[in-house]
Amino acid sequence: MALFGIGKKKDKTESNIILPKHIGIIMDGNGRWAKKRGLPRKAGHSAGTKTFRKITRYCSDIGIKYLTVYAFSTENWKRPHDEVESLMKLFKSYLEEALEDFKDDSIVVKFIGDKTPFSDDLRKLMTENEESSKYRDGMVLNIAMNYGSRSEIVRAVKNICNDVKDGKFGTEDIDESLFSDYLYTAGQPDPDLIIRPSGEHRISNFLLWQSAYTEFVIMNKLWPDFDKSDLDEALNIYAQRNRRFGGV
Ligand code: FPP
Repeated sequence: MALFGIGKKKDKTESNIILPKHIGIIMDGNGRWAKKRGLPRKAGHSAGTKTFRKITRYCSDIGIKYLTVYAFSTENWKRPHDEVESLMKLFKSYLEEALEDFKDDSIVVKFIGDKTPFSDDLRKLMTENEESSKYRDGMVLNIAMNYGSRSEIVRAVKNICNDVKDGKFGTEDIDESLFSDYLYTAGQPDPDLIIRPSGEHRISNFLLWQSAYTEFVIMNKLWPDFDKSDLDEALNIYAQRNRRFGGV
């Protein structure tokens, strides 16, 4: 049953359903989608990009405040050279359009992950997207690129050590809240819901610290086939969960 049909934000806030403030999505299954059709893997990534645009806009429409999508992990560099190259091309052509794409929805675009290994062109586009969208007031879209949660945590530890060494604060001041401020997601609420399409039951180095109390919903659809009604289904499952955060 689709509780979140078509319509804009005002319709959705009238709903009594508990909406997650922050959703994470592991966009998985592009390769299998292509294989099933006898197509090259890059065709799956291309189809996955269309789904990403559709679902991002839908999340914004229904009033989600933060959306984090896993686009490229620190481990994805291990893929065959031509697949990595086609993904980089796809990111580049997408980022050339992203500002216009999300302008009407006033979406704020951020990248989480280490930008260093990307080409100059791609890094420039990432910075341009971040700079030009930062004064918008809509949903925050975190695109995780060259992101890995373990390396995010190690980076946070190193930066905290440097700040202790520089006398900014002492080790006694380090607590969970301070630690969170050293992550790429600093200042943002933890994800309430993480959705993984394609049926895999893995977290794959995604938002490990931030997902301590996140609700997981695994869906069987491959990402390119994922539709608004699948998001509605995940939201309905989420709304029925009893979140206790370790309490009773
Ligand atoms: C995982 O599926 C998907 C990726 C590694 C790439 C995700 C990228 C996109 C959806 C492109 C859109 C993103 C942006 C920001 C433009 P897989 O290849 O591991 O699939 P498989 O498990 O079926 O092989």
